[in-house]
Amino acid sequence: MALFISFEGGEGSGKSTQAKILHGRLANLSIAVKFIREPGATELGGYVREWLKRGLPIEKTISNHAELFLFSAARAELVTKELKHHLSKPNAAIVADRYVDSTTAYQGYGRGIPLEQLEVVNALATQGVMPDLTFLLDIAPAEGLARMGAVQYGFRLDDDMSATESERHTEGGRFEDEPPDFHERVRQGYLHLAASEPDRFHIIDAAQPQHRISNRIWETLRLRFPEAIPQG
Ligand code: TYD
Repeated sequence: MALFISFEGGEGSGKSTQAKILHGRLANLSIAVKFIREPGATELGGYVREWLKRGLPIEKTISNHAELFLFSAARAELVTKELKHHLSKPNAAIVADRYVDSTTAYQGYGRGIPLEQLEVVNALATQGVMPDLTFLLDIAPAEGLARMGAVQYGFRLDDDMSATESERHTEGGRFEDEPPDFHERVRQGYLHLAASEPDRFHIIDAAQPQHRISNRIWETLRLRFPEAIPQG
C-alpha cells in the first residue's frame, strides 16, 4: 500500500510550497510519488478549478451547496480515476495539496454548511480513501493573507503593469477576498479537525522559516513511517 500524505491550511500558509518540497524529496528516493492538487489533477478537476477561480462576486456565481458539490465532484473523480489505482501500488506515495479536510474547513466552518451534512457528501466523494498523515500549516489569517498580497503585488509590479482594476480583482480568486472572520472560521475549523483526529494530523506553525518547516515535515514522516522512508 502506498503512503498518502496531504497538506492543509488557510490562504498564504505556504502549504503548496511544502507539498512540492516533500514531493521532490520522495521522488529522490526510489518511491513512485504522485503529486495532486485539489481541485485539479483530472480533466474535471481542472475544469472546476478554472471555473471557481474566475473570482466573480458571489451574487453572480454559485450557491454554497453548488460550490460544495463542485469540489466534491472533482474529488470523487480524482479518487476513482487516480488515487485508488496509485494507492494499490507497492513502494508508492501520494502528496496532496489539499484534500477532503479543505471541504470541511471552507464549506463547513467557513460557509456554514452543517457538518453532519458535509460528512455524508465527504464520505461519498472520498469513498473512504483518507490520508495516512495530514500536515496542517497553521498561520494567523492576517499574516497568511499579507504574505499572499506581497506575492501577488510583486507579481503584478514585475509582470503585469498593464492589468486593469477588474483584471486585478479577478486574479484574487474566490476565497482570498472573503472577510477576515471567514478566514478565522476556516482556521479554527482546521484546528478543531486536528484536535479530533490527533493521530492523522500534525500541526505545524507556518510562521517559521521555510527550511525549518520542510525539515520538520521530513523528520515527522521518517519517524512515523520508518519502513517506507529509508534513513540517511
Ligand atoms: P488554490 O489556488 O489552490 O489555493 P491554495 O493555494 O490556497 O490551495 O485554490 C483553491 C481554493 O479552493 C482555496 O482557496 C481553498 C478552496 N477549496 C475549498 O473551498 N474547498 C475544497 O474542498 C478545496 C479542495 C479547496
